[in-house]
Amino acid sequence: MRQRAFLALVAVAFVALIFPATTQGQRGGQQVQLPDGPGKDMVQATCTKCHGLNFITNSFGFSRDEWVTLFSSMVVPPKTESDAIADYLAKHFPEKPNISKAVIVPGPVSVNIKEWLAPTLGQRPHDPLAARDGSIWWTGQYASRLGRLDPRTGAMKEFPLDTPNSGPHGLDEDADGNVWYTGINVHEIGKVDPKTGAVTEYKVPEPARNPHTPIINDATGMLFFTTQSGHVGRLNTRTGEFRIAKTPTDGTYPYGIQINSKGIPWYVDFRGNRVGSVDPVTMEIKEYTLPSPDARPRRIALTPDDVVWYADYARGYLGRFDPRNGQVKEWPSPGGKDSRPYGIAAVGDVIWYSESGVKPNTLVRFDTRTERFQTWTIPSGGHVVRNMMATREGSLVLANSGINRVALVEVRTGRSTAAR
Ligand code: HEC
Repeated sequence: MRQRAFLALVAVAFVALIFPATTQGQRGGQQVQLPDGPGKDMVQATCTKCHGLNFITNSFGFSRDEWVTLFSSMVVPPKTESDAIADYLAKHFPEKPNISKAVIVPGPVSVNIKEWLAPTLGQRPHDPLAARDGSIWWTGQYASRLGRLDPRTGAMKEFPLDTPNSGPHGLDEDADGNVWYTGINVHEIGKVDPKTGAVTEYKVPEPARNPHTPIINDATGMLFFTTQSGHVGRLNTRTGEFRIAKTPTDGTYPYGIQINSKGIPWYVDFRGNRVGSVDPVTMEIKEYTLPSPDARPRRIALTPDDVVWYADYARGYLGRFDPRNGQVKEWPSPGGKDSRPYGIAAVGDVIWYSESGVKPNTLVRFDTRTERFQTWTIPSGGHVVRNMMATREGSLVLANSGINRVALVEVRTGRSTAAR
C-alpha cells in the first residue's frame, strides 16, 4: 500500500519533470541539445517561452527568410537579436534533405488564398469559424482568446477569455450569433457574446475531460462535443444541461465531429480505425470499423448525401465511408504516405483538405464525382492547418496554426458552381 502510494508520488514527480511548465503555457517541453554556435543562447532564451526546442529540431528546416517569417509570427526580438537568431537557425537548421515536398496536381479550378496575421503573436489559431455575417473567427489556443476578422476590411478584434490558459480549441456559432468554444485545458465549454465580449463558462461534468471539438445543431440548440477522454458530450445551449456518453471501445479519442442532414452527429476516432455516430436524443454511440488497422482519421466532412469523408492523418489517405451500406473507399493523398491530411471540409460534393506533412502545406481539392485531385501550396507554408470550414458562398476558411494566421480561400471554377 505504502509502496504504491510512493510509486504514485514518483510518477507524479516524473510527469512534472517531463512537462515542467504545461500549466504556465509551455507545450512539448522535451529536452533537446542545440548545436553550439553564435546565437544559440538567444534562441534558447527567446524560443522556449511557449514550446520546447524540439519544435525547431523536428521542423522541416527553413531558409533564413523562411525562418524570419515563421518566428516573427511568434515573437519579435530586438533587431540585433533577431538577426543573430535568424543566422543561427539558417546555419544549423536549413531545409532537411529527406522531407516530403508538396506535390502539385494541376486541374480546372483556380483559387485565391488570402492570409492574415493574428494580432497576438504565437497564439496558435487552432480552429476557424466562418460566421453568418461573413466574419472569420478563430480560437487562439495558446493565448486564451478568440479572434474575429472582417475579411473585407482586414479589421481584427480579439476576445480574451475569463479563465487564463483555458486553451480554446474548437468553436461554433449559435443561431443568435454567440460563439461557443471548448476550453480543452480547463474542461469547460464557453460562450462569447460578440456584442459585449462577455464570457459564460460551463464546467463539463466528470468523467468527461478535455473537451475538443464542438458543433451546434441550430434547430435544437444542442452543442455536441468530442473529448480526449473517450466521451462524446452534449450541452443544451438553452438550459446549460449536459449529457455525457462513453464510447463503446475503451481508450478512444473522438476528434473531428459534424452533424448530418438528419441531425445525427458523426465523429472520427483519432486513436483507432473507427468512425462513430451518436443518437442525438439518447446519446447512444455506434462505432464502425475502417478496414486498415493503421487508419487514424483525424477530421471529418459530410457531403449532402450524408456520406462520411475523413482525413487519414497516419496513412496519408482520403477516405469515404458510406453509412448506408458500410462500404469504405480510400484514395492515397497526392503528397504520399507522410502527407498527413488534416483539416477537411465539404463544399457540396467537393472535398477540400490540407496536407500538413508536406512543405509547403497544400490545399487539396477532390471532386467526388470525377474522383480527381487538384492541389495548391499555401502561400505562408500553412504550418499545420488543423481545421477548415466552408462559408455559405462556398469559400473556405483556414486556421494556419504554426504561422499564426487565418486564411480565406476564394474558389473559382469557371462553371456555375456557386452551390457546390
Ligand atoms: C509566444 C509564443 C511563442 C514563442 C515565444 C515562440 N513560438 Fe514557436 N510556436 C508557437 C506556436 C503557437 C506554434 C504552433 C504550435 C503548433 O501548431 O503545434 C509554434 C511553432 C513553432 C515551430 C513549428 C512550426 C512548423 O511548422 O514547423 C517552430 C519551428 C517554432 N515555433 C520556432 C520558434 C522559434 C525559432 C522561436 C524563437 C525565435 C519561437 N518559436 C518562439 C509559439 C511561440
